Amino acid sequence: MKVDRSRALYERACKTCPGGIHSNVRKNWQPLPLFYERGQGSHVWDVDGNEHIDYVLARGPLLLGHSPKPVLDAVRKQLDVGLMYAGQSPIEVDAAEKVVELVPCAEMVRFSNSGSEAVHGALRLARGVTGRMKVVRFEGQYHGWFDSAFWNYAPPLDKAGPRDDPTPIPVSRGQVATDSENLVIRPWNDLSLVEQAFQRYPGQIAAVKTEPIMCNMGGILPKPGFLEGLRELCTKHGALLIFDEVITGFRVSIGGAQQHFGVTPDLATFAKAMAGGFPVSAIAGKAEYMNAFGELTITHAGTYNSNAPCMAATVAALTALSENDAALLRHAHAMGKQLMDGIAKLAKDAGKQAHVRGVPPAFHVSFNETEEVVDYRTFQSRDKDAYARFWAALQENGVRTIPDGLWFVSTAHTQQDVDKTLEAVAKALKEV
Ligand SMILES: Cc1ncc(COP(=O)(O)O)c(C=O)c1O
Repeated sequence: MKVDRSRALYERACKTCPGGIHSNVRKNWQPLPLFYERGQGSHVWDVDGNEHIDYVLARGPLLLGHSPKPVLDAVRKQLDVGLMYAGQSPIEVDAAEKVVELVPCAEMVRFSNSGSEAVHGALRLARGVTGRMKVVRFEGQYHGWFDSAFWNYAPPLDKAGPRDDPTPIPVSRGQVATDSENLVIRPWNDLSLVEQAFQRYPGQIAAVKTEPIMCNMGGILPKPGFLEGLRELCTKHGALLIFDEVITGFRVSIGGAQQHFGVTPDLATFAKAMAGGFPVSAIAGKAEYMNAFGELTITHAGTYNSNAPCMAATVAALTALSENDAALLRHAHAMGKQLMDGIAKLAKDAGKQAHVRGVPPAFHVSFNETEEVVDYRTFQSRDKDAYARFWAALQENGVRTIPDGLWFVSTAHTQQDVDKTLEAVAKALKEV
């Protein structure tokens, strides 16, 4: 694959931007962070003219594919009449009503711009309304890069502490150590250890915060009864259950993972798929808690919150995803299911040990796991080098995926894309 123009741009970018990038997660691309100049539907073209079938989808926002027409039309219309007012616009009421219509826990909504911000706001709200400070969170989950949330995402196992009570570990240099005083870290999928946390800190836990599926770590699904058990524990102990649906929202089903699993949290955070590629996030939840923002006793703010073009994008994206009984979303699920089954079958036929987990529009592939994967630590038994070779061979064959094994599938992927992708998978498996 030719990367000459990307290389020249990368070298130029490195002179003015640290690392040549604007989000640290984009650095681990091989042979170097590439530059792209066009995206349409399920395909993207880099500056060297290489065409890729895209399963990165901007790491999730492009559930409707690149440049989705209904979203762009709505944004263009809005651009002509106004951007933002530091006041309210009618379109934000439409957007909030759409979220309330679709999401089980959403009696009320507040919009912001990124998932990290929404998580930050939800944590503050949970602490504010309960008057408690401790939050239970799970090892290996990603909730954005803000100081209160950026802990124990990928701790080195030799520093991670005991499995039943992991040591709080910041992900970045520069984080304040005392922030961890209010965190209680637990392995995922082990209800008894969450219960033990409630016993250890009676009346002190404000919230349990979880990704309902570990999309950022192996596509690990909740064990039957785990999410239901968290719901019961939170209710029993007067803590709020927060689902971080930044990836699962409007994707796993139109009402998110909470609808898919039939477990309703008190608060949930959304971003990515909700605005078809525009920067919108939301805190949604029960009115009895959300109203504290409205009473101004707990602050949620932001200059760019609910700006009109982003709200127009939200209404258009959620309408496109939900209309005709969510026909577009069902198509993405069908394409994703074919990919999941196809990859598993090709690997089996080739005598490779592959693990394809998660849900069709956001699944995960890994190789040669030596343990049954139920949480962060067991997922560390995978063969990372094998996946890196598989990933590079896929890219050589025109299939663009996230280096750590996560695949996003959009409503724009076609049967032809799936067939071509599986041909590339068959070739790439030779490298495993
Ligand atoms: C589950 C989850 N929460 C929060 C975030 C942070 O969102 P953002 O990158 O928009 O700040 C992400 C981002 O990938 C995420 O996957």
